[in-house]
Amino acid sequence: MGAKDVLVVGGAGYVGSHTVRYLVRKGYRPVVFDNLSTGHRASVPRGVPFVKGDLLKPASIGRALEKAPFAAVFHFAAKALVGESVENPALYYRENVTGTLNLLEAMLAHRVKRIVFSSTAATYGNVEAVPLTEDHPKNPCNPYGFTKWAIERMLEDFHAAYGLRSVRLRYFNAAGCDPSGEIGEDHDPETHLIPNILKAALNSRRKMKIFGDDYPTIDGTCVRDYIHVTDLAQAHVLALDAMKKDVHCDAFNLGNGNGYSCMQVVEAARRVTGRSIAVTVTGRRPGDPAILVAGADRARDVLGWSPAHDSLDEIVETAWRWMVAHPRGYVG
Ligand code: UFG
Repeated sequence: MGAKDVLVVGGAGYVGSHTVRYLVRKGYRPVVFDNLSTGHRASVPRGVPFVKGDLLKPASIGRALEKAPFAAVFHFAAKALVGESVENPALYYRENVTGTLNLLEAMLAHRVKRIVFSSTAATYGNVEAVPLTEDHPKNPCNPYGFTKWAIERMLEDFHAAYGLRSVRLRYFNAAGCDPSGEIGEDHDPETHLIPNILKAALNSRRKMKIFGDDYPTIDGTCVRDYIHVTDLAQAHVLALDAMKKDVHCDAFNLGNGNGYSCMQVVEAARRVTGRSIAVTVTGRRPGDPAILVAGADRARDVLGWSPAHDSLDEIVETAWRWMVAHPRGYVG
């Protein structure tokens, strides 16, 4: 087995592409597998092999798995918009659950026995207490969260029955960009808070919409735990190291443990960009919980994870660097 050969499924997406960079820096040999439905070919570094394929076409996964004797798969590929999942759950169950089942079966057939899976805070749903620990009840409040939770259960069953090792990483709010400014966040449509604030900073005719200011929080706007995408990447590599030792099937929250309201993020963006950012408050966005903050002690204790970019201003600053250099995203 090539200990440094890893397959990165969804490696042309936002978190996937940052992890590919991190893997290369750490001496791994990633192969990227992506259908480019939301990912960007331009985000894959020169010299990293790229396979265009789709998890719903099992033959294409087989072709990718034949490229090397992979030590592990990192699985980022998923549909990930809460609102879209409510409108079109069939798409989410098909792409996320069936797609992952196809991937796991192909891994078993090719004797690849380790997977790091991108899970989400959305598996918890309605939150009873923050900071959230991994054993908090799972009550997803939308189909997206259900598909990720279903996959987590699938991974536990595959470990028990087939010995497939897995680490499920529950991201809180992935944010920021590679400090080089060369790769970043480019979604169409863009639904996330920080890039939308920065788009308003870039274009003074654009007003930033804040969804609701009547939540039971410090200033009435929703509170989230923003975690730098490079710190997420670090956790993936540590998860693989841990799976080679005594972590065989486990889940970890990934967040800084600091909650910031939407208005506090706008203030950070004003500080970082030096621009006045026009804000308008509209109604609540359906499905938004008031507060999500991670308890991430397990990732620190068990994986040895230690986020390096934990200040909100630094997170926003790296996102701004990317946006200034690439105002039209990868197209430009
Ligand atoms: N928000 C705005 N205006 C915008 C965009 C977002 O006010 O233009 C608000 C949202 O209402 C929310 C906060 O900013 O209160 C954060 O919203 P994001 O869309 O950036 O992130 P979410 O917390 O909704 O979603 C993230 C991930 C999901 C994951 C979820 C887990 O993007 O994939 O966390 O709860 F499911």
